[in-house]
Amino acid sequence: MPLVTTTEMFRKAYDGGYAIGAFNVNNMEIIQGIVEAATEENAPLILQVSAGARKYANTVYLKKMVEAAVETSGLPIALHLDHGDSFALCKDCVDSGFTSVMIDASAHPFAENISITKQVVEYAHDHGVVVEAELGKLAGVEDDVKVDAKDASYTDPDQVQEFVEKTGVDSLAIAIGTSHGAFKFKGQPKLRFDILEEVGRRLPGFPIVLHGASSVPQEYVKIINQYGGNMPGAQGVPEEMLRKAASMAVCKINIDSDLRLAVTATIREHFALNPSHFDPRQYLGPARDAVHKVVRHKIVDVLGCNGKA
Ligand code: G3H
Ligand code: 13P
Ligand code: ZN
Repeated sequence: MPLVTTTEMFRKAYDGGYAIGAFNVNNMEIIQGIVEAATEENAPLILQVSAGARKYANTVYLKKMVEAAVETSGLPIALHLDHGDSFALCKDCVDSGFTSVMIDASAHPFAENISITKQVVEYAHDHGVVVEAELGKLAGVEDDVKVDAKDASYTDPDQVQEFVEKTGVDSLAIAIGTSHGAFKFKGQPKLRFDILEEVGRRLPGFPIVLHGASSVPQEYVKIINQYGGNMPGAQGVPEEMLRKAASMAVCKINIDSDLRLAVTATIREHFALNPSHFDPRQYLGPARDAVHKVVRHKIVDVLGCNGKA
C-alpha cells in the first residue's frame, strides 16, 4: 500500500468516536518505535515532520524512512508536514510526496489566514494532497519560537464556518487551551470543551485537530529530574481529557513532547546505570523501546484507534 491521505482515516475516526495519533518524527529510532507499536495494535498512523525535523534529518531521509515503514508494516500511513509556515514550504512537501500538509497561518489576521490557506489548498488539492489549517493561537514552544500564554487566543466558533467554506481546507486545528511543550498549565489543567462542542455543532462531520496534546508522563519527568535534569512543574493534558476530545469532533491528536521525554529519560537513566557504554545502539535501542511503549499506550488507552487500520 502506498502512503495514504487522511481523508478515509478521519471519516472513520469521526464516525467511530476515536482519534488518529499524529506523532512527530526526527530520526530512525523514533519512526521505528512508533511503527512497531502501531503494527502490534493494527492502528492507522500519521507521521509528521516539522520544519525543524526537515532541517535536522533532511527531508529525503525522513521520507525514505517513512516509506520503509509503509513497506514493512503494511499499515495505512500518512506523511504530514507539521506547522508549515509558508506556501513555498507546503508546495515543497507536496512536490516531494507528502500526502498531507499543515499551513499554519494562525499568527496572521483572519483574512490573511484565509488567503494563505486557500492558496495552499488549491495547490495541494490539484496534487491529491490534503490540508490542515489552524484558527486560534496556541501557547508554547514551536521551532524554538515561544508564544506566551498572554499572546495565545482561543478559537472563535463564529469564525470556523466562514474559514472552512472560503479555504476549502480538509481539517482544522483549534485552540482550546492546549499548548506545545512540557509545561502546559500553571495550575489546574483546563480545556475549553464548550468551544470544541460549539465548533463541532457549526461544522458537522468535519475533522478537528488537537495540537499540544502530550500528557507529559510524570514517570519520565521524575527520571529526568533524578538523573540531573531540572523540569519542575512539567505538566501535560490529562489523558481523560484527550479521550473526551477523541470521542467528540477531534480526529487527529498531535504528540511530540511525550516521545521526547521518553527518549531523554531512557537515555539519561541508561548512562547513569551504564556510564561506560559508548555504542549508540546500547542507548538508542532502549530509547526506541520507550517510544514503542508510549505510543502503544496512546493508541490503546487514549486514542482508541487500535484495530482500526
Ligand atoms: O509543534 C511543534 C512540534 O512539537 C515540533 O517541534 O518544531 O521543535 O520540531 P519542532
Ligand atoms: P506536544 O508538544 O504537546 O507534544 O504537541 C505536539 C504538536 O502539537 C505538534 O504539532
Ligand atoms: Zn503543533
